Amino acid sequence: MVIDRTPRVALIGVHGFGRVHLDGLLRLAATGAVRVAGLADPQPPTPEALERVRALPDGADVPVLDDAATLLERVRPDITIVSTPIHTHVPLARLALAAGSHLLLEKPPTASMAQFRELSADVEAAGRVCQVGFQSFGSHALAHAARLVADGAIGRLRGVGVHGAWVRERAYFTRAAWAGRMALDGVPVTDGALTNAFAHATASALRVACVAHDADVAVELERYRVASPEGDDTATARLTANGVPIVVAVTLCAAEHHLPVIVVHGDRGRLELQYTTDTLTGRTADGAEVSGPPGRTALLDDLVAHLAHPTRPLLAPLASCAPFMHLLEAVRRDGPARPLPDAAVEEVDGRPVVVDADATVRGCAERLALFSELPVPWVAAAPGRT
Ligand SMILES: NC(=O)c1ccc[n+]([C@@H]2O[C@H](COP(=O)([O-])OP(=O)(O)OC[C@H]3O[C@@H](n4cnc5c(N)ncnc54)[C@H](O)[C@@H]3O)[C@@H](O)[C@H]2O)c1
Repeated sequence: MVIDRTPRVALIGVHGFGRVHLDGLLRLAATGAVRVAGLADPQPPTPEALERVRALPDGADVPVLDDAATLLERVRPDITIVSTPIHTHVPLARLALAAGSHLLLEKPPTASMAQFRELSADVEAAGRVCQVGFQSFGSHALAHAARLVADGAIGRLRGVGVHGAWVRERAYFTRAAWAGRMALDGVPVTDGALTNAFAHATASALRVACVAHDADVAVELERYRVASPEGDDTATARLTANGVPIVVAVTLCAAEHHLPVIVVHGDRGRLELQYTTDTLTGRTADGAEVSGPPGRTALLDDLVAHLAHPTRPLLAPLASCAPFMHLLEAVRRDGPARPLPDAAVEEVDGRPVVVDADATVRGCAERLALFSELPVPWVAAAPGRT
């Protein structure tokens, strides 16, 4: 469906990651490429945020409401950005579709595979499109890495490893009722390091490995928790598609913060992509050094361009998330993560640090191994493979 006028964009959820969306929306509105249709959040925007909206040429008239349903019914936006807790994505996305809107929906798009299939059908039936907030899909370096793999530039793909080691205070796991929860009042949430904090890692690795949207993906999991109430904060997953293993090894309880890295193992070359900074390095089969093209296309800009020229494919359409959803569904079915024994955890400056976690996740990504396949003492003490 072509939009032949300036698209009007609503934002649902203005705090938390919604701040990043508000920045992107106001940046694009300032160029005249979109208009701000309205904001909705039960918590009012900060005075600074409101001031920036009111400063737009038609900003005085922009409705700012506490209820998304009322806003959507009133303004019927062309595009709705949904940046709210995971378990609210589907009901809010449906309200937006019912109001005739296209979607920019935050990741993970839904809290279960069943919801993903239902939402995909709803989007299709409404004749609208849904872009999912995997912003690394707009990375030029990621696209270049995927092209090199597809062209055989690093030989046969042996596997992809991802290591991520972040430092999170205990407050991170109690910042919201849904944080680190598998379900709330019987509704799936499926929040955790694998499915949320490092969702980009897996989704980006699957894209670099050129896994098709409809590929069969087998999932093995080892999920642990230290500070998280239910979900994993220290975990490995091995996804196997077309015989190629993709190992994701992550912790939110690292001694030091490291940029996460996707390590692409070819039998005649190797790439490393820091997907948060779009830094690509490596060497191809013919010995050439690889360096990535910088920059990325913002997902809202891409959605607006797609709606003006529908032959231009979306960077992160809902269908492209299907391989990632196999991981999320496996995690949901796995249930709460296993607690790590006290001996595996040190208290550093009032926050929990998993012993040797930083080196362990690197080892997993290098050797395409799960924790239990490396000599990791705390895994022997807390067996938990699914
Ligand atoms: N793409 C990324 O890099 C990235 C980074 C962080 C979070 N996220 C995703 O963004 C989403 C929001 O995460 P967050 O940490 O900002 O959550 P949050 O708990 O801080 O909530 C964000 C906002 O949504 C509002 N909200 C909740 N229910 C609402 C409703 N029914 N209608 C309108 N507003 C509502 C809250 O009041 C809050 O202001 C999640 O899906 C998360 O996974 C994405």
